[in-house]
Amino acid sequence: MAIKNAIAVMTSGGDSPGMNAAARAVVRTALFEGVKVFGIHNGYKGMLNDEIEELTARSVSDLIQRGGTFLGTARCKEFKTVEGRRKGLDNLEKHGIEGLVIIGGDGSLTGGSMLSKEGGIPIVGLPGTIDNDVWGTDYTIGCDTAANTAVDAINKLRDTASAHRRIMVVEVMGHTSGWLALVAGIASGAEFVIVPEVKYDLDDICRQIVESYQGGRRYSIIVVAEGACSGVGLKNVVQEKTGIDTRVSILGHIQRGGSPSVEDRMKASMLGERAALAIISGASDVVFGFDEGKVVSINLFDSVYNKKTLDPELVRLSSVLV
Ligand code: F6P
Repeated sequence: MAIKNAIAVMTSGGDSPGMNAAARAVVRTALFEGVKVFGIHNGYKGMLNDEIEELTARSVSDLIQRGGTFLGTARCKEFKTVEGRRKGLDNLEKHGIEGLVIIGGDGSLTGGSMLSKEGGIPIVGLPGTIDNDVWGTDYTIGCDTAANTAVDAINKLRDTASAHRRIMVVEVMGHTSGWLALVAGIASGAEFVIVPEVKYDLDDICRQIVESYQGGRRYSIIVVAEGACSGVGLKNVVQEKTGIDTRVSILGHIQRGGSPSVEDRMKASMLGERAALAIISGASDVVFGFDEGKVVSINLFDSVYNKKTLDPELVRLSSVLV
């Protein structure tokens, strides 16, 4: 059923650059269509605590260039209970909210699927995470900026590694997904990329590094996803096995911040508009993402029940180029 009165938008889980651009597009599109928009602050926690306010076009001005999320985000244990979700649904009803756009990673979208199932409220999801690990889309909001941030850091680390003839282990984010490590590794010309999804042979890596140093190489960069192994542990083993001076740099939450790239701003804006139009026209249980450069819609339940795998073409490319 088409929505006549009001929708809400929220961000949830780990923030990612471009979430603001997406929320801005949702708000402005809904207002353009004559529908009121509420912002839910601090994710599911804010939904339960009734941190909900009506937004205007001005609420989202001066935002497109900002990282983080003006709506705030939080992780919420209470939402994992049926009672918690009931409380959240009651608050939405209180404000006359007829549909909800959720911007977040797979955990946040799973929360949305539960609200839809238990409360019958229309839900449209947008994938927002630097991990790029949402099933059904080859892009998630923020992944491009995070990859650029990691590549920029690796460029700098290469200078100092080369000056000292050191091995540099660079730990990037990604608990269960190696997308960021893989892309940052390929785009920065790292010698080795270690990701949770692909088996690796540390003895072989160390042997190759020693041989390359014997051939005159001045440095070696190993990019490792945090979920594959700890950067500190890896640094210790590599130093011991190669006998070469090794350092570790953990990029951490730097990867989550910063002004979004043009790609993230554009794609987030396109997704935000599609999400608002879809929910207003009565759609539910869909996630909008990208496939080969085009906006696509994915079933929400398919998206959260399936696990995205790494693109085998990228895995192959990284093994050829290192
Ligand atoms: O899900 C996004 C992500 O940035 C992961 O890559 C990372 O492991 C995690 O969030 C870190 O979460 P927190 O900010 O809670 O430490």
